[in-house]
Amino acid sequence: MTMPTPQYPWRMQVHHIRQETPDVWTLSLLCHDAYPYRAGQYALVSIRDSADTLRAYTLSSTPGVSEFITLTVRRIDDGAGSEWLTRDVKRGDYLWLSDAQGEFTCDDKPADKLLLLAAGCGVTPVMSMRRWLAKNRPDADVQVIFSVRSPQDVIFADEWRNYPVTMVAENNATHGFVAGRLSLAILESVPDLAARTVMTCGPAPYMAWVEENVKQLGVTRFYKEKFFTPVAKAATSGLKFTRLQPAKEFYAPVGTTLLEALESNTVPVNAACRAGVCGSCKTQVLSGEYTVTSTMTLTAEEQKQGYVLACSCHPQGDLVLA
Ligand code: FES
Repeated sequence: MTMPTPQYPWRMQVHHIRQETPDVWTLSLLCHDAYPYRAGQYALVSIRDSADTLRAYTLSSTPGVSEFITLTVRRIDDGAGSEWLTRDVKRGDYLWLSDAQGEFTCDDKPADKLLLLAAGCGVTPVMSMRRWLAKNRPDADVQVIFSVRSPQDVIFADEWRNYPVTMVAENNATHGFVAGRLSLAILESVPDLAARTVMTCGPAPYMAWVEENVKQLGVTRFYKEKFFTPVAKAATSGLKFTRLQPAKEFYAPVGTTLLEALESNTVPVNAACRAGVCGSCKTQVLSGEYTVTSTMTLTAEEQKQGYVLACSCHPQGDLVLA
């Protein structure tokens, strides 16, 4: 793309790239206009300047604190977005970003006592918020627990020296790390746990474990980043989906979205916002009954032709897809 589009209005230039860990890089971007965002939010990034391929990445920088807008990206094998951003994109290149999105932010939450829990790359919004809290709520009591596979996987290792943090390493724990995984004992050692606002980001099973256990320990203000969606196992019965090109038949239980049906059957589909906003999951339904909760990016003509946003499409019966 050489021109801004409504979806990607922000053109940013790569100022420098820093390797954080063996498989994570931070891209520092210069935006020539003021880019409005809140600590902890994410943006959609156009991959290879395509208007159709986009991926969501947390803005790991902090408004009012960081010199650059930063994206911190883990390279995933065969990940179209992360491979490109961490291998091919170079200093001086331009990226196109959407407006900042997401509600996983701390500026609107009770912030006198917080516990921020992160695992792996889930630390990116946590660091963004930690800096924001240091600047804007300097008296807040903020505890951080950061779980990694091994000490070499600590993202923002130098910067964490500025903040109190409990590091938990599953493998090769060295001095300064608690060995193993996040445990009930670690949670119970957090002073005033039940009085804290708890926010967590990481793989879905990790966040589910955190949610269950902090709630059992009396936490009532709990927030998790909904950006990471677990992919369900493929069903063998239920609603039947017939895709014509290339031909494939698959099933999904009643009550799932079309996006979940596609993903659980490894049918290629783009998805970023998962909320009917970005338009990346546009899919054509040729026949069948369904309801939709968003048509935000679709034209009237596209809707007439059966195009839906898969994340916002709720099949009511068997569907035939283009
Ligand atoms: S994933 Fe963004 S509209 Fe469906």
